[in-house]
Amino acid sequence: MRAIQIDRFGGPDVLGLAEVPRPEPGPGDVLIRTIATSLNPVDDKTREGVIGGGTPPLPMTLGWDLAGIVVDAGDSGLGAGERVIAMSHQLATGRGTWADLVALPAQAVAFAPHAVTLAEAATLPLPGLTALQTLDWLAVSSGERLLVAGAAGAVGGLALQIALARGVRVDALVSRDEQAAFAREHGAGLVTTDPGALEDRAYDAVLDTFGAFVTDAVADGGRYASIATQAGPVPDLSARGVRTTVHQVREDGPGLDELTELVDHGRLRLRVDSAFGVHDVRAAHERFRAGGLHGKVALTF
Ligand SMILES: NC(=O)c1ccc[n+]([C@@H]2O[C@H](COP(=O)([O-])OP(=O)(O)OC[C@H]3O[C@@H](n4cnc5c(N)ncnc54)[C@H](OP(=O)(O)O)[C@@H]3O)[C@@H](O)[C@H]2O)c1
Repeated sequence: MRAIQIDRFGGPDVLGLAEVPRPEPGPGDVLIRTIATSLNPVDDKTREGVIGGGTPPLPMTLGWDLAGIVVDAGDSGLGAGERVIAMSHQLATGRGTWADLVALPAQAVAFAPHAVTLAEAATLPLPGLTALQTLDWLAVSSGERLLVAGAAGAVGGLALQIALARGVRVDALVSRDEQAAFAREHGAGLVTTDPGALEDRAYDAVLDTFGAFVTDAVADGGRYASIATQAGPVPDLSARGVRTTVHQVREDGPGLDELTELVDHGRLRLRVDSAFGVHDVRAAHERFRAGGLHGKVALTF
């Protein structure tokens, strides 16, 4: 079968389509035929060699997101032929999803939304779980005020929509006017490109997707979560009673079920900037790196 691999670190030119053995599903695994996947910042950084510290070893199959069809359900209770989505923690496990067939633990797999194509569904798992799990850590509830920094990005755009679906009042910090329009259309209250325009100590919770560290905006006794691992830890705000974290996404089938339901109920809109076939994976990475995206870059198998 085919897999998109790297055998050295570098720019998009190090990506190649290799012929590799089919994965052998272990006990509790589901074997999935990949229909589509998508690009995330982690894939770009892994390919460059700036994260991962040499694990998994080279050659390495990349990819975290997956939308496909069950080939062998094992004892999962799923049926062969079901449309599913999954997130694989590729860096921790070496199970990259950019391959014709992928074996993953059943607990990491969920039914795909019916309302969208599998190419659209492939844009959901990693950013969706990151948004959902971080919102759960923030424990932000109906009527509370949340600030999303990077609210039109992949994770931020989903976090904005999930929080609004939970009845949270959401404001948005974005990078440019076009992104401001996205945040407004999706129901954000205050939308600004200027961190200086944010009200001081006003937010019960802040979800920071790019290391903005707008710590003056969080209320005393509030919560502040960053997902921007490479920006380092959130400054210590314990003197103000603010809890802080840098959240790390984890495989989470029940979380994917929740996301699927939100998509099928029209509460979560997915955005595909562009879709590329596997043979055009280098062009897909170039598109991703060019920036100015209107959604996710999908890869179809
Ligand atoms: N810890 C984890 O488990 C985890 C999980 C997923 C992602 N991440 C990390 O989280 C980050 C975001 O991921 P993503 O997939 O959401 O990326 P993304 O789609 O690129 O979103 C980032 C957003 O932040 C905006 N932004 C960047 N700098 C800004 C600034 N100075 N002012 C205002 N907005 C700014 C970007 O705007 P532009 O498009 O204009 O640049 C973009 O909309 C990445 O670094 C990724 O590696 C971590």
